[in-house]
Amino acid sequence: MAAITIKTEEDIRGMRVAGRLAAEVLDYIAPFVKPGVTTGELDRLCHDYMVNVQGTVPAPLNYCPPGYTPYPKSICTSVNDVICHGIPGDKALKNGDVLNIDVTVIKDGYHGDTSRMFLVGQPSILARRLADITYECMWIGISKVKPGAHLGDIGHAIQQHAEKAGYSVVREFCGHGIGKIFHEEPQVLHYGRPGTLEKLVPGMIFTIEPMINAGRREIREMTDGWTIKTKDRSLSAQWEHTILVTETGYEVLTVSPGMPAPPAFIASQDTQAVTA
Ligand code: MF3
Ligand code: CO
Ligand code: CO
Repeated sequence: MAAITIKTEEDIRGMRVAGRLAAEVLDYIAPFVKPGVTTGELDRLCHDYMVNVQGTVPAPLNYCPPGYTPYPKSICTSVNDVICHGIPGDKALKNGDVLNIDVTVIKDGYHGDTSRMFLVGQPSILARRLADITYECMWIGISKVKPGAHLGDIGHAIQQHAEKAGYSVVREFCGHGIGKIFHEEPQVLHYGRPGTLEKLVPGMIFTIEPMINAGRREIREMTDGWTIKTKDRSLSAQWEHTILVTETGYEVLTVSPGMPAPPAFIASQDTQAVTA
């Protein structure tokens, strides 16, 4: 297992820029997410914004981890019972759909990775509650990040909050270290036991990106080689930020003017660096 890299000041400066640019793609696309738009159109808009406006590289395009076929698009769009890695296509969004849009950009060699939930028209109360609880799960995980804490503290806090709400945590996919490499050590599980796994050290950078199902946690893989759905066809939600471990706690790197505010229960001194 490769060691967890500790980022230099120069790396951190590069990761702040990449993180902000990834978040700004989500700000840009938000007004286009409406009934009638296809996920393929959202992909084209994001792609053109990244390449022509930002001068960033869409990291997903042709991304090909071992055992996979190259990913064919520039963003992931995961609608309703799609957990993650949904491939944009010609299907139009309809009133009541909920989807995750996941953006990863590369700028000057550094990756910024973030995703948000979007509600199309007026989704069900269940769908909105699932998106809200999953957002709280991400932030409860983020709030555990500080030197000396363990990765297991993050996973445990997320799992507790999800299961208390009657939901389940997807096990097959996790957060990840990130930097000049898209997916690197450590794996950041969204379930677990306090005090277990790696101890956090200033300069580590990783994502926290819980996938939470309204029903059971089991998954099924589609034959396109990428799309992951809930086995029981229940709704699934996900949010993602890229996080730096600082001397005193954490800094959220994927910040932008349009990002949703942290939940009210996240203490403001903890989020001092959110808008850095
Ligand atoms: N952005 C996803 C993540 O959070 C990874 C997508 S891989 C892709 O890790 F190839 F599907 F884009
Ligand atoms: Co990620
Ligand atoms: Co992502």
